[in-house]
Amino acid sequence: MSSGLIFEKSSKGRRGISIPKLDVPDINPLDVIPHDVLRADIEGFPEVSELDAVRHFVNLSQMNFGVDTGFYPLGSCTMKYNPKVNEDMARLSGFSKAHPYQAPELSQGALQLMYELEGFLSEISGMDAVTLQPAAGAHGELCGMLMISAYVKAKGKPRKKVIIPDTAHGTNPASSNLAGFTVVTIKEGKGIISPEAVASVMDEDTAALMLTNPNTIGLFETNIKEIADIVHKKGGFVYCDGANLNALMGIAKLGDMGVDVIQFNLHKTFSTPHGGGGPGSGPVGVKKILEPFLPVPRIIKRGKRFNLGFNCPMSIGRLKAFYGNFGIMVRAYSYIRAMGPDGLKKASEMAVLNANYIMEKLKKAYHLPFDQTCMHECVLSDKVQSEKDVYTLDIAKRLMDYGFHPPTIYFPLVVPGAIMIEPTETESKETIDRFIAAMMTIANEARESPDIVKNAPQTTKIGRLDEVNAVKKPVLRWKP
Ligand SMILES: Cc1ncc(COP(=O)(O)O)c(C=O)c1O
Repeated sequence: MSSGLIFEKSSKGRRGISIPKLDVPDINPLDVIPHDVLRADIEGFPEVSELDAVRHFVNLSQMNFGVDTGFYPLGSCTMKYNPKVNEDMARLSGFSKAHPYQAPELSQGALQLMYELEGFLSEISGMDAVTLQPAAGAHGELCGMLMISAYVKAKGKPRKKVIIPDTAHGTNPASSNLAGFTVVTIKEGKGIISPEAVASVMDEDTAALMLTNPNTIGLFETNIKEIADIVHKKGGFVYCDGANLNALMGIAKLGDMGVDVIQFNLHKTFSTPHGGGGPGSGPVGVKKILEPFLPVPRIIKRGKRFNLGFNCPMSIGRLKAFYGNFGIMVRAYSYIRAMGPDGLKKASEMAVLNANYIMEKLKKAYHLPFDQTCMHECVLSDKVQSEKDVYTLDIAKRLMDYGFHPPTIYFPLVVPGAIMIEPTETESKETIDRFIAAMMTIANEARESPDIVKNAPQTTKIGRLDEVNAVKKPVLRWKP
């Protein structure tokens, strides 16, 4: 049941604050504020006491589900717990109050942090240089593809095509297209791409192969080195969407596998919550050959001093106002420093172990389309349950009754009825076991009493929404 809007709790004349009597001359707003920006009345403005307002908003906040309140196994989104100490670091006033126009001489700490973060990301990925500017993963992809485009144009041979497997993240073809390329899709039934499939479409008009590794079905592209050789032999680049780096960091370097450009999703891997459209950060790492094309400004170190460098004639220019989303960089820097190389490796190992544990347990009750060791996430499907008319959406809704956030559903598109689970490295075995138990109970229910699952959720404040109307006719504004 909805708790009502604050407008509906209004009672005429009720006030949230008492203002002391004026001890200065009273002024009529009409005398000081231009009339055309003044409203005669605000229709329906809620008149509530302070307690009404506090209860309303605290109750709303408690309806929210977040990683601080429960397990959030949203595949591909990496909703892991991020240590609060990294939030504290981002809030240090020297960082949070630094003005973007503050002169470099007065921003040495911030510039040093950015310079060192670029170095850490280079080290983790095996790339030669990094820009921190892009505001998100997809923005980083665009940055990478624009650099490849600038390179092929500078060589006087503006290649037109980009090869993308159907297991790549959906933003990959969009970013390539935005950068002016034509996308050639390769389909792979086995989950990972084969060198033969790449060789059959790779030619001298292809600027790059763009793949996601680990890919969107949670599998490691084992043939990547051989594939990179095929692409390089014909003069193309290998772009790797590195957003799933929390499966690899500290263990394997994409740069050593022949990758020329990658983007990192700091907001998935390095301690900033993902989702909700909040600020992210999608740094891009490149091999030496593409370094001249990186966006400006670059962070430069001379002796012990740091500066912003704009004199880069081949650069693709600026991608973002000022220097990127600095607060996210502070969180990532703190996370990397606190974890150290061993901690990062351990995090990847735990992410992979947790996902494989879930996969092994759940494959007894759910269809597993690619039955092989997965990385940090696994993809199941509703094939077994659909025989009883219970579908992925029903399973996801029923999980809410058991107190879990639903996993990602119907993604990736290559698996019909996909249920994509990413436990992340931060969940304990006890939590994961409770989740597995809930999933097994749902599988039983789907077999024995499917209506329970089909009518879920039953314990949430609001039952099952009419999802089409919720999207097509959203009610976003209160009308008196
Ligand atoms: C593999 C992969 N690539 C790219 C992206 C896009 O990143 P963003 O949402 O920051 O644009 C995501 C987002 O989850 C992702 O999982």
